[in-house]
Parts: sequence; structure tokens; C-alpha cells
Amino acid sequence: MLAAGGAAAGEAPVDVSAAEALAKKSGCLTCHSVTQKKDAPSYKSVAEKYKGNPQAEAILYKHLTTHPKVKVDGKEEEHDSPKTKNEAEIRNLIRWVLSR
Ligand code: HEC
Repeated sequence: MLAAGGAAAGEAPVDVSAAEALAKKSGCLTCHSVTQKKDAPSYKSVAEKYKGNPQAEAILYKHLTTHPKVKVDGKEEEHDSPKTKNEAEIRNLIRWVLSR
């Protein structure tokens, strides 16, 4: 089977505008930028870190749904979740991050 856009077989291609809209709506971009390190790592560096890791999507799904403690500006806080209960939307957002 021919995979669209280099996605693995069975995976839907990333819906970029939906992912960007969800990131914006969820406030992700106050701490993250796609290309620049702010309080949080850039999505480019996250994509780099997980490159070739078959567990990447599962790890980030957990990161985005279980509110792990992260350090922001030297203070511990709970990491935010996307403002949706829809698993497919969350997975699309994760694949968007991983394809930066
Ligand atoms: C208050 C600031 C803040 C907000 C808002 C925030 N993050 Fe983060 N995020 C962080 C910090 C800090 C880290 C680094 C955690 C670490 O490496 O220990 C991080 C890490 C991550 C990672 C990498 C996790 C890993 O395993 O390397 C991803 C992906 C991520 N955030 C996505 C998001 C998304 C999507 C949103 C919106 C729902 C979001 N973040 C909102 C601060 C934030």
C-alpha cells in the first residue's frame, strides 16, 4: 500500500490546520513554539528527540493526558492537556508535533 505523506500504513495524514487550531485553543503556544525554545522545548526539538522511536506517540499521549509535573520557570506545575476529549484530535496534535 502507498502511504500518504510518508505516514506509516494505517495512520491518517496529519491535519495541520486542525492541530494548529487545537494547540492555539489549548494555550500550548504560551510555553511552546514550533521552532524556538521558550519556557518549554520547541516542537522541532521534541520531534528530534523522538525521531525513530516507535513509542513516541504513546509516550506523548500519556504526557498530554495524565498531567505530569513539569518545571516552568523553576516552578513545578502540572502539564496542560489539550482542550478536547476526542482521542483522534489529541493523536492528530501529537503527530503534528512529531512531524515538525
Ligand atoms: C505552562 C507551560 C506549558 C504549557 C501551557 C504546555 N506545555 Fe508542554 N511542556 C512544558 C514543559 C516545561 C515541558 C518540558 C518537560 C520536561 O522536559 O520535563 C513540556 C513538554 C512537552 C512535550 C514533550 C514531552 C516529552 O516527553 O519530551 C510536548 C509534546 C508538549 N509539552 C506538548 C504540549 C501541548 C500539546 C500543550 C497544549 C495542550 C502544552 N505542551 C502546553 C510546558 C508547557
